[in-house]
Order: sequence, then structure tokens, then C-alpha cells
Amino acid sequence: MARGKKIYEGKAKTLYEGPEPGTLIQYFKDDATAFNAEKKAVVDGKGVLNNRLSEFFMEGLNSVGVPNHFIKRLNMREQLIRQCEIVPLEVIVRNYAAGSMSKRLGIEEGTRLPRPIIEFSYKDDDLGDPLVPEEYIIAFGWASQQDMDDIVALALRVNDFMSGVMYGVGIKLIDFKIEIGRVWEGDFMRLIVADEISPDSCRLWDIESGQKLDKDVFRRDLGNLTDAYTEVARRLGVLPTNGPAANSTVIN
Ligand code: TMP
Ligand code: ASP
Repeated sequence: MARGKKIYEGKAKTLYEGPEPGTLIQYFKDDATAFNAEKKAVVDGKGVLNNRLSEFFMEGLNSVGVPNHFIKRLNMREQLIRQCEIVPLEVIVRNYAAGSMSKRLGIEEGTRLPRPIIEFSYKDDDLGDPLVPEEYIIAFGWASQQDMDDIVALALRVNDFMSGVMYGVGIKLIDFKIEIGRVWEGDFMRLIVADEISPDSCRLWDIESGQKLDKDVFRRDLGNLTDAYTEVARRLGVLPTNGPAANSTVIN
């Protein structure tokens, strides 16, 4: 498909104008970053795997009625999505303590939380995406109280779906991050799940062995990231037929 103008380039994805108004093309790069891009690498085949995995999760969410930006996958690295206005928040849902929560509170990684806990970071790379209370979000007008109620409901539905799907293939969903977008239908504004859902934005541990199958493999130098994502894709039955590395070159 002919690509339009580049709209935005992020750390792991690039957005281009789509074929019709209100659509964009989301291109998945092989770039991996951590700690606000202090650590960087090119991981052969990561973009291909995340394109497939995000398609799989977003389609699944669509089929259970959780609205999201996904329209269709176009090729190994690109998908057609609905254009939306991103709410400047990272919405994090945690089922088990890990990462920054464990560090902040001294809770051992892997400890089951009494219930899913949702937290919000203000999306600003220069500030390092600081954790913010809901009161700040409303006071600064990043989202309204009604938006926040809707965002929490969406996040919990995504958590239920993702936890169940991953459990079915022997993987524990420790935590994840989603982003939310606004779309307008006439005068009516709706919030939808946007960005991506992939092992870049989740913590996924094998139920039996506890092996990490997510971006912590890269953040903490635990092994080969492509192998970990390939294992997730294989279990879910969405492994690209030629293997992820087969299409790792840039498609023009
Ligand atoms: P954290 O424990 O480092 O706060 O991360 C919580 C979850 O959010 C984890 O699944 C990784 C994901 N995440 C992102 O997707 N992007 C980010 O920039 C960060 C810091 C975390
Ligand atoms: N996505 C963030 C970054 O690059 C951080 C992370 O996922 O650890 O830098």
C-alpha cells in the first residue's frame, strides 16, 4: 500500500498518513530502548513479531467488545489503525509486584497483589514519564473524571482478557502498559485502546519456570529478546511463517 507522509516517529514505531482520512499506518521498527532510551539496540525481527502480537491482542479485544484502534494488518511490519488523539498518560495495570513497584515499595518481584492495581504516568520523555496521582490528571485537564472512570474500566477489561489469553498458553501476566486515544463520532467522543500491546509493554513470565518472555530480557540482559518474543508468538499460534528474522529488512 502506498504510504503517506510521516506523521510521528517514536522509539519503536513510526506513524504515517493512512489511505483515508481518520486512518494511519503504524510501522513497527526493530529498535529496542529501555530506561528512557538510555539503553538502545536493534533487535532483528522484533518489529515483525510485535506487529503480529499487537494484531492478535487487539483483534481479540475487538471480538470481546473492547474498542481499540486496530483496523487490519497490512504486511509484516505495518498495520492500518484509526487515527486518535492520544491521552498523555501511560496506564499501567499490575497483577503481581515487579519493576518500579517492587523497587519503590520493597516488595519482592512476583508477589501476588491483593487486586489489580492501576497507576498512571504522565507521558513526557523529558521528565521520564513521572508517576502521577489521578488528582493531578484531572486538575491539569489531561483527562476528565468521566474519562478516568472510562479508562479504568477499559484497563480492567484489557487485564481480564490478556490475563486469560496468556494463562491459556502457560504465561502469567505480571503487568502491562496501555495507551488510550480519543476518537470523535460526530459530537460524541469515545475512548479507545491505542498504541500497541506486545511483549515490549507487558511483563510475561512462564508459569512453570518463571522465565521472563518480555522486554525485561533486554532491560536486564537476560538473553535473546527475539527468542523470548518468538516463544510468546509460537504459543499463541501467530508465529510469522518465515520466522521473524526473514523479513527484518525495511519494507519500502
Ligand atoms: P515499570 O514496573 O517499569 O513501571 O513498568 C510497568 C509496566 O509498564 C511493564 O509491563 C513495562 C511497561 N512499561 C512500558 O511499556 N513503557 C515504559 O516506558 C515503562 C517504564 C514501562
Ligand atoms: N519504553 C521506555 C524507553 O525507552 C522504557 C522501557 O520500556 O523500559 O525508553
